[in-house]
Amino acid sequence: MLITIVQSLPKYADTASNLDFIHRTIDTVEADLLVFPELATSGYFFTEKSHILPHALTWNESIELKDIQEKATKSDTVIVIGFPEKEGDLLYNSAGIFMPDATKSRVYRKTHLFYKEHLIFEQGNTGFFCVHDVKHDCKIGIMICYDWRFPEAARTLALQGADIIVCPSNLVTTLSGKVFPARAIENRVYVAVANRAGEESLDGETLLFRGESAIYDYLGERIGMASFGNEEIIHAEINPQETRNKAFNSVNDIFKDRKPEMYYD
Ligand code: ACM
Repeated sequence: MLITIVQSLPKYADTASNLDFIHRTIDTVEADLLVFPELATSGYFFTEKSHILPHALTWNESIELKDIQEKATKSDTVIVIGFPEKEGDLLYNSAGIFMPDATKSRVYRKTHLFYKEHLIFEQGNTGFFCVHDVKHDCKIGIMICYDWRFPEAARTLALQGADIIVCPSNLVTTLSGKVFPARAIENRVYVAVANRAGEESLDGETLLFRGESAIYDYLGERIGMASFGNEEIIHAEINPQETRNKAFNSVNDIFKDRKPEMYYD
């Protein structure tokens, strides 16, 4: 199964141009699972609802999302894209998982909001979930960027049977690069991080998005890595079913060995 990560440089508040890039990319890259960054349609650094609202899209309604769905179906590819979502008066930092079978497509709303996202977005209410790519027998779990700081997010997805966790991101630190391989190892799942590159400034504050998107195998080895700061596409082949044996020797199995009764908040 071919995983393709698009490390893009979204243009701030230019949805038309970002969608144009997204469509050209979908039309030209090879992928079975194609992952774009968080808020790839709009850019990131908004602090006022009225500024991001014109760029927000409605799941199951916006023509922009229907066009992406059509491409996922036609190209027989699972496509993951972060976008600002509106539902009534509420905004979410969301990612669509567009399945070739449109009836299986779902939207994930970011659970853990980062920094000034609190000013514009609601906390996500979808919870963590997986979708099943039947063609490759691959369960795909999703989280968005800052969700990485909470090991419970990846664990929840792994306990639901995720073979790969995809993480559309707009990362601003290097710390996550130390943590993603740990999430892969402790859950024995693949992890694919699609981070954006470039920077955005607002009211004298600049956010630098590093790029350095990466794909890790279920032993935490990096099997794909993009550069710092550039638009780039990376690929890796994965064998999803290999993640399902959670034993790492003849005695220990990381799921069977869990002691939930000993864990507490
Ligand atoms: C982030 O959650 N965009 C850092």
